[in-house]
Amino acid sequence: MGLNPVIIRLEQLSKTYGEGDTEVHALFEVDLTINRGEYCAIMGASGSGKSTAMNVIGCLDRPSSGKYYFDNVDVSGLSELQLAEIRNRQIGFVFQQFHLLPQLTALDNVILPMIYAKISPDERKQRAIAALEKVGLAARLFNKPNQLSGGQQQRVAIARAIVNQPLLLLADEPTGALDSHTTQEVMDIFEELNSSGITIVMVTHEGEVARLSHRIIMFRDGQVINSHLNPETLETEKYVTT
Ligand SMILES: Nc1ncnc2c1ncn2[C@@H]1O[C@H](COP(=O)(O)OP(=O)(O)O)[C@@H](O)[C@H]1O
Ligand SMILES: [Mg+2]
Repeated sequence: MGLNPVIIRLEQLSKTYGEGDTEVHALFEVDLTINRGEYCAIMGASGSGKSTAMNVIGCLDRPSSGKYYFDNVDVSGLSELQLAEIRNRQIGFVFQQFHLLPQLTALDNVILPMIYAKISPDERKQRAIAALEKVGLAARLFNKPNQLSGGQQQRVAIARAIVNQPLLLLADEPTGALDSHTTQEVMDIFEELNSSGITIVMVTHEGEVARLSHRIIMFRDGQVINSHLNPETLETEKYVTT
């Protein structure tokens, strides 16, 4: 993979669920380009296609028609195994509900993606500790998720997402389960990660969170109605949907 500036390119991309009377165009002929190093927030009402777009961008789901290029590679030509490799090595995922394994310590949760990536045990441990230090959890390596606060659990999830040094961090409502103080902590980490070069795409319905990104992409009814909203001009109240 080369150093082309474009990391995500959707071309006339559609995703359709069902058929006939029950057909739903979750995405309809979407064109969207995101460059290496950007920090974008995706907004839009419930049902507007945000999660569908994230699933396609994250190589978790395939489009019904149109093209998706990830780092200049046409994803439609890849096998399931190749897609799994991209998800493991090039893309980090953060979800609203953390999705940590409850029986594993913070350290072992962060080590897990490196086992799949076939990294040696010594290096795994070193890199997991470094990632947990980066999110301010050096003192919590051996705690299990139920011994951590929500904000701490989300920081473990972020450490897990970045430990394979991905090109892209995808976050679907990363602060949806957090209070305003921990939301700010997570946003500080995102800003720092983006400054260090990671491309970030996050879905949020919170105007105050979206405002901390550098570009807002607005969805409506499966289409991008504005691909370059300026976060500084976003009126917070207007887009709060729940
Ligand atoms: N697996 C599915 N089967 C059928 N319809 C779906 C499925 N996933 C999403 N949809 C529909 O596609 C549309 C977009 O959904 P989604 O991408 O989840 O929106 P958002 O994340 O913006 O709330 C909605 O109308 C939703 O009901
Ligand atoms: Mg959604």
